[in-house]
Amino acid sequence: MRTNITVMTGDGIGPEICDAVIKILTAAKADVTFECFAVGEQEYERNGKLISDAAYASFERNRILLKAPITTPVGKGFRSLNVTLRKKYDLYANIRPAKSNKAVVTPFPNVDIVTFRENTEDLYAGIEEAISDDCMHSIKVITRAASERIIRDAFAYARGNKRKKVTCVHKANIMKLSDGLFLDVFHEIAKEFPDIIAEDKIVDALCMRLVMDPSEFDVLVTENLYGDIVSDLTSGLIGGLGLLPSANLGKDYAMFEAVHGSAPDIAGKHIANPTALLWSACMMLEHLHQNDTAKRIRSAVDEVLAQGIILTPDLHGTATTEEYRDAIIAKL
Ligand code: NAI
Repeated sequence: MRTNITVMTGDGIGPEICDAVIKILTAAKADVTFECFAVGEQEYERNGKLISDAAYASFERNRILLKAPITTPVGKGFRSLNVTLRKKYDLYANIRPAKSNKAVVTPFPNVDIVTFRENTEDLYAGIEEAISDDCMHSIKVITRAASERIIRDAFAYARGNKRKKVTCVHKANIMKLSDGLFLDVFHEIAKEFPDIIAEDKIVDALCMRLVMDPSEFDVLVTENLYGDIVSDLTSGLIGGLGLLPSANLGKDYAMFEAVHGSAPDIAGKHIANPTALLWSACMMLEHLHQNDTAKRIRSAVDEVLAQGIILTPDLHGTATTEEYRDAIIAKL
């Protein structure tokens, strides 16, 4: 059955990469209908809202969102819209797969790491207070319920995808109560999955190991802030932010987006790499059980990357976003 999906075209490079992704999905005959909305700064200037009521209503109806990056206006007292969307729709599981691609030369040819990042609490809970002009508090919130569901999802993913190991990333040696709770829950849930190796690593040691030998790692599960940082690190291992997709999943809603931001430095220059958003769209198609279409798109991207001729400048090529898009469509 054809699925309606909501698309938020975002700021900066958002509209350019969204256009490329929609054209590629259409060429691949994905069984989806797009309901597109401009969101972000332009929408704010037009209507005083970063996301219109119509865009929210569309997402609430369709429950599937493909979202381009949104600029967070600085100094206007805004909470990040991304954080707001994740909280509002309880998109608690942020899943970020980083996989080496033969076509993109990096010092690390064997990266295949999926980060499960808890998306709703930790320091991102937004609880801050000024004690005085010279002293600010940010409160870190870790709960058993939120920890259990992300950790269980990570293990279930490992089992369902023939992965061998789940590593819990924490700093429980210092934050004994909050990270201590996350770690305790990890070891409790690990007992439900005796077929999966469970190990834990302190976040700083993990970062060191990641840049020395990322092939040691398989599935990572972690809190919000560590997940944000560590998954960007994994994107560096595979060749940059332009290549890291993500899914934000909750019980009722799902949002798919590239990990990178709106890249204002290259907006409008037609050199943005749409791959991360395209791979996010492939995760969306897999979520919708359109696995064959996703597979065909992934193969077409792999072929274009492997040929190494039509690549965007972040991958050391000279192609425009549109030339790269058309090369993928030609392979399809
Ligand atoms: P950024 O990810 O937008 O850019 C960092 C660097 O990576 C820049 O040099 C940029 O040109 C490059 N880059 C990023 N995506 C690329 C792509 N697809 N192709 C080629 N090069 C790419 O991070 P930055 O500059 O810190 O943030 C810009 C804005 O984006 C901020 O307002 C930030 O709040 C917002 N942001 C939004 C996110 C979202 O909507 N999910 C996530 C991260 C940041």
